[in-house]
Amino acid sequence: MEKHWWQNSVVYQIYPKSFCDTNNDGIGDINGITEKLDYIKYLGADIIWICPVYCSPQDDNGYDISDYYNINPEAGTMEDLERLISEADKRGIKIVMDLVVNHTSDEHKWFVEAKKGKDNPYRDYYVWADPVNGGAPNDIRSTFGGSAWEFDEASGQYYLHLFSKKQPDLNWENPRLRRDIYDMMNFWIDKGIGGFRMDVIEYIGKKPLEKITANGPMLHKYLQEMNAETFGRKNLLTVGECWAADTDIAKLYCAPERHELSMVFQFEHISLRGNKWNPKKVNLSDLKNLMNKWQTAMHNCGWNTLFWNNHDIPRVVSTFGNDGEYRVQSAKMLAVMMYCMQGTPFIFQGEELGMTNAYFKSIDECRDIETLNMYKERKEQGISDENILEKVRASSRDNARTPMQWDSSENAGFTRGTPWIGVNGNYSEINAAAEMQDKNSVLNFYKKLIAMRKNHDIFIYGSFVMLPENDDICAYDRIYEGKRMRVVCNYTDQSVHTDLDMNGTLLLSNYNSLPESTLRPYEAAVIEF
Ligand code: GLC
Ligand code: CA
Repeated sequence: MEKHWWQNSVVYQIYPKSFCDTNNDGIGDINGITEKLDYIKYLGADIIWICPVYCSPQDDNGYDISDYYNINPEAGTMEDLERLISEADKRGIKIVMDLVVNHTSDEHKWFVEAKKGKDNPYRDYYVWADPVNGGAPNDIRSTFGGSAWEFDEASGQYYLHLFSKKQPDLNWENPRLRRDIYDMMNFWIDKGIGGFRMDVIEYIGKKPLEKITANGPMLHKYLQEMNAETFGRKNLLTVGECWAADTDIAKLYCAPERHELSMVFQFEHISLRGNKWNPKKVNLSDLKNLMNKWQTAMHNCGWNTLFWNNHDIPRVVSTFGNDGEYRVQSAKMLAVMMYCMQGTPFIFQGEELGMTNAYFKSIDECRDIETLNMYKERKEQGISDENILEKVRASSRDNARTPMQWDSSENAGFTRGTPWIGVNGNYSEINAAAEMQDKNSVLNFYKKLIAMRKNHDIFIYGSFVMLPENDDICAYDRIYEGKRMRVVCNYTDQSVHTDLDMNGTLLLSNYNSLPESTLRPYEAAVIEF
């Protein structure tokens, strides 16, 4: 397979609203990202994906865009963004922008026009349908609760919104809409960005009246067209968010000869937790089966993303690890397990500190539309506060959105104003300043792990072999040009026995010594043979 710059890169994902606030209005901003570039450089990441900073009424924290060509005033200005791109470039860091083109805000000028009537030239930029038996066209549901159809009094038709009512779905069947999107993408490419993360891109080929949302018939035709019209000749990093992708579907997106995307986020490992609001602890054998499946299927015919966390998922150390006694050890173990595989790592802000879930005490502490809608729905069903809050603590997206913990000063150094969402109470213990000083911190372990990947091609190009261990241990080999790297992880808080050969050179360990036949709780090691 042809080699690409994004294969040996490490991505750091930033949720700007919660990263760093420079003007003390309580909201993180683009200048805050620029201010922290040296921190990201210290960590060793060389790509930053920033969640949306475009003009937006913020119904879904920026995933409801009202103007693709301008920056939301709370986030800063276009000059701030251009400065970020050039300051990042000086440090060898590329900026990947979020591309949200399944829907816009209802305040986008296209939708404002579309609502004016059936013969408005922008009407067909969105998805409209007549009522059926006096009600919604069918029963498809919005991800954020309730029907995905909203009635428009003025025209007597419904419009589609797979997310909130303020996020009407675009109609990709309209070639003029597609042209407008490609022009907009080229505007951003011309600013010198490193690529796009494509929000819920699997929905753009939808056929809502046939109840097809993800993986619609035209999806890949549109992506091939987009590739040809925009980033195709530039070798940018493009990553699609694809909740419904299995390995066969993923190959459709990223097999090189198909000229679509570089890679996709697939969520099968996250989905092992089961029902969103009723999650269970994931058992290691299921996880290992998936790791093996993806590593084997994509080798030489696609490319994997490697991630545990993003702004939609609770904190990995609280869900897959142990955020109590073994927080540090388990955070390091999970990093080894994930990021020694083949693919491009995506580290979400604060993950490298071992930041934990927020353990909200009241719904008033939450901001996320999905969480608040769920709360309201369940309250109406008579469910108790405590019962709902338990779900919120386990699964709310706000767990990932509490401010970045920079230091032990007030508000964790995130802002000197009032933060738009509260800081996690454990910031005086878990914060970047303290972890930079501590050579055994999660932060410095991530730094070492990233450096190790960069220094050994085997992690980038090597093949993958899962070793048949019992279900407390995850062990795999990476093999490349006659060399072998062995990765050994104890997934439990107990000591566990193994007969694995570990007699090699220790490259990385969360106990700072070669493992023995009894692995210590959450022990993880990378051994070179
Ligand atoms: C994606 C985003 C999420 C957003 C949704 C709608 O899943 O990651 O944050 O709410 O799309 O745009
Ligand atoms: Ca600010």
